[in-house]
Amino acid sequence: VHVVSSYNLSPNLFVLPPDVLTRVSEYVPEIVEFVERIVKNGYGYESNSSVYFDTAKFDTSPQHSYAKLVPEAVGDQKALQEGEGDLSISADRLSEKKSQNDFALWKASKPGEPSWDSPWGKGRPGWHIECSAMAGTILGESMDIHGGGFDLRFPHHDNELAQSEAYFDNDYWVRYFLHTGHLTIAGCKMSKSLKNFITIKDALAKNTGRQLRLAFLMHSWKDTLDYSSNTMESAVQYEKFMNEFFLTVKDVLRAPTDITGRFEKWEEPEVELNNSFYERKRLVHVALCDNMDTRTALEEMRVLVGHSNSYIANRKSAKLRPNRLLLEGIATYLTYMLKVFGAIEGSEPIGFPVGGQGQNVDLESTVMPYLSVLSDFREGVRKIAREQKVTELLELCDVVRDDTLPELGVRLEDHEGLSTVVKLVDRETLLKERDEKKKLEEEKKRKKEEAAKKKQEQEMAKLAKMKVPPCEMFRSETDKYSKFDETGFPTHDAEGKELSKGQAKKLRKLFEAQEKLHSEYLQMNQNGN
Ligand SMILES: *[C@@H]1O[C@H](CO)[C@@H](O)[C@H](O)[C@H]1NC(C)=O
Ligand SMILES: *[C@@H]1O[C@H](CO)[C@@H](O)[C@H](O)[C@H]1NC(C)=O
Ligand SMILES: [Zn+2]
Repeated sequence: VHVVSSYNLSPNLFVLPPDVLTRVSEYVPEIVEFVERIVKNGYGYESNSSVYFDTAKFDTSPQHSYAKLVPEAVGDQKALQEGEGDLSISADRLSEKKSQNDFALWKASKPGEPSWDSPWGKGRPGWHIECSAMAGTILGESMDIHGGGFDLRFPHHDNELAQSEAYFDNDYWVRYFLHTGHLTIAGCKMSKSLKNFITIKDALAKNTGRQLRLAFLMHSWKDTLDYSSNTMESAVQYEKFMNEFFLTVKDVLRAPTDITGRFEKWEEPEVELNNSFYERKRLVHVALCDNMDTRTALEEMRVLVGHSNSYIANRKSAKLRPNRLLLEGIATYLTYMLKVFGAIEGSEPIGFPVGGQGQNVDLESTVMPYLSVLSDFREGVRKIAREQKVTELLELCDVVRDDTLPELGVRLEDHEGLSTVVKLVDRETLLKERDEKKKLEEEKKRKKEEAAKKKQEQEMAKLAKMKVPPCEMFRSETDKYSKFDETGFPTHDAEGKELSKGQAKKLRKLFEAQEKLHSEYLQMNQNGN
């Protein structure tokens, strides 16, 4: 049974609904009874019409200890102030308490404040007591798991625990506390004043419930999760990676349909993949046994898909069919794990439901037979068109693949020499893919044109340089040289000084290079004529 006292029903996140939803105002009689018993058991005292919990008495009792969750926080007045506010910290409250660490079980109400009748006069419940009374009434003297945010450990949960154990007179009211990490938005704590407050609805407008779940699963539940475009992008990529794998496996499993296709010899690659499969399964289990480390579990699952993908690619490049039963086993396992994680709803044995959330028709079995016929037919047409070089037909086949079918949520993947892969993907994803592909192609085209232009310019420049006869190459440089010999080779610099041997040697090299270039040019022209 899980009891939740404040809850936002959001079916799109695939969160299981609670069995019980409660309101504190309906539990005041139980709360009063709770406080009375704590006082009777000796762990609470009345003072000035309020009732306080006696932390020192509780802590010194042999079977109890106070602040089991954060013992070092006892006496931390700042934490108390944040936790209790003026309920038990203000000067007049302090004077009512035996110890400043004591906290309120029941508060006398001031005139005008909300109040209920009680044996101590008009008052209201202390903050922690409501949780103890509601959960204790419904679940009894012990529960297995108590959840809550990391910030609730002290004083709230420690006080809740102490007063409940004082009430039930045991030391096992909660067997395990699971304190979740905080959610930050792009690195900042979510707060109304920072205006970075994001509702589940806002988040669902940007990403699907599954992508949000994957983002959470890719983090340790006890650590801070930063909601940012980076976080969501890695979840989207993960989903895509898994989805592609499922679609590929479905395609592998589809053809051929006769039973003999299931008899396949195991060679070294199959044994290797099988070993990796079992090893990943084991590691996923180990990760989940280690404080529910979903992050590592998902990483191991990603590795398994990576291995399977390279296995499939190797088989395909050897023009061999991948082992169907083995891949089916892997895909079924991964689907099962994602179902356990609540990232796959629905009952299909392999992959994410097709057709988007909320669409329950089994598209796969309805349309796939027709698509297979179309795909085989198209393949036949392409084969003939290629042999007979009918480009119009080939273009038509491309239009079917690139425009017509994506609009209907179907992706065809041509692998030359192998049969076409048919995948059912949702339309939006496909159209996005198509746009991205177009953009990429345009970019590629632009880069190619630029490169061609640059190359042409370089060639023009080279040609211009080749044209210059070596006897002319230095003559124009009158700013550097003043005299030349009969071959046009410089002998004196601009100031009329004879060039040194070293200088002449350097220039001679350039001169000879130009001689070679120019003779190539002349040869080229001769051939051209
Ligand atoms: C008792 O409570 C009243 C009202 O909250 C307060 O004014 C008064 O100071 C308290 N008395 C003592 C002894 O703390
Ligand atoms: C697959 O590997 C596991 C673990 O190494 C092994 O127990 C199992 O027998 C293997 N399956 C086949 C069909 O070889
Ligand atoms: Zn609580």
